[in-house]
Amino acid sequence: MPSGQFNPKFAMPTSLRVGLIGYRFMGKAHSNAWRQAPHFFPLKAGIEMHTICGRDAAGVEAARAQFGWKQAATDWRMVVNSPQIDVVDISTPNDSHAEIAIAAAAAGKHILCEKPLAVTLRQCEAMVAAVKKARVVNMVCHNYRRIPALALAKKMIEGDALGRVLHYHARYAQDWPMDPEFPLSWRFQKGISGSGANGDIHSHIIDLARYLVGEFQEVSALMHTFVRERPVPDPAGKGQGLGGKAGKRMAKVTVDDAVSCIGRFKSGAVANLEATRFAAGRKNHICVEINGTKGSLFFDFEDMNRLKFFDRTLAPDRQGFRDILVTEPGGIHPYAGQRWPPGHIIGYEHTFVHAVADFVDACAAGRSVQPTFEDGLANQRVLEAVDQSARTRQWVKV
Ligand SMILES: NC(=O)c1ccc[n+]([C@@H]2O[C@H](COP(=O)([O-])OP(=O)(O)OC[C@H]3O[C@@H](n4cnc5c(N)ncnc54)[C@H](O)[C@@H]3O)[C@@H](O)[C@H]2O)c1
Repeated sequence: MPSGQFNPKFAMPTSLRVGLIGYRFMGKAHSNAWRQAPHFFPLKAGIEMHTICGRDAAGVEAARAQFGWKQAATDWRMVVNSPQIDVVDISTPNDSHAEIAIAAAAAGKHILCEKPLAVTLRQCEAMVAAVKKARVVNMVCHNYRRIPALALAKKMIEGDALGRVLHYHARYAQDWPMDPEFPLSWRFQKGISGSGANGDIHSHIIDLARYLVGEFQEVSALMHTFVRERPVPDPAGKGQGLGGKAGKRMAKVTVDDAVSCIGRFKSGAVANLEATRFAAGRKNHICVEINGTKGSLFFDFEDMNRLKFFDRTLAPDRQGFRDILVTEPGGIHPYAGQRWPPGHIIGYEHTFVHAVADFVDACAAGRSVQPTFEDGLANQRVLEAVDQSARTRQWVKV
């Protein structure tokens, strides 16, 4: 959505009152980001951590006290419809994103929503239509875009440091559910999650591909489920995506554990992506390599303050991967100048702080901020093409 198209009624508040839905993994990451963003960035609006919401009264009250929210609620509808809330932040499992976001848009709230945007293309389309109709600021939390090293990669690619991009190669690997006794949490239930590794982690490297290289044209993929049955969670562990307690009854896993995808971008560049939850020893391993006619970039999340750059325009005796520590202040490196002196490195949580800071400024100015719900919809198109290709064993146009 171009700037100036947002409803002026919602623009330039002096302070944004935030309602956060969901209080576990992402609830914690987002709470930290809402608290930290004004400490590091000269934001164009203040932030009031107004209400945190979850289904379990005791659990959400404990989160309220620990994370520093003013109020706790157990019904997201009350948060979304409250005149005391300006921003709705959706950090619940995937099947609830569409209903909450559409209601929030109808109530005139700006929306930050976790990825994947929703579980089906139809839901994503309805969400895009809702935010366009309401003219509210909308953003999907693909937080890895805001790692300074990857924001620098974007700037370098746009500045022609790589020449014409030929290859995008990315891997997102984890190992948390390799134990077959790990309970069947919502992340293994298609009705709630939409998909497994595909929507959960593949979606992030698809987003980075679209951010850094461009739109996909076609994909060919395979998906695999290594553990086909898991114990149903004990009610005490219900709702926990990455944990919970195994019960005695077994039930079917209805999502993929791993996905491998090759593809072509509209630009003619080629893509090679892998996302898996079954790479022993890989905890949150995100590697991206981009090769162009003039050089290459390499990024490894486990060394997230650095970007490796190979420049083949240099004299052959000077060529070699150079290591850029992406911490230079004064506008030299993205986001870095607002934090610590050079070389004082940052971590995972800062990716959310950067996302929240950009989102707040966009709300204050009434302008669009990437990645928008349109980006979430475009991402879902790739996810569904991947799924279709894996099922039909055919190349699929995106
Ligand atoms: N950006 C990232 O890197 C990243 C990382 C992890 C998860 N996510 C996304 O964040 C979302 C949440 O994942 P998580 O790992 O935090 O899950 P989680 O299971 O740890 O937490 C989910 C929270 O949602 C609450 N909830 C569920 N249904 C609700 C409802 N109807 N009303 C109110 N609250 C409800 C639960 O009580 C819980 O607090 C998912 O969409 C996931 O894909 C994104």
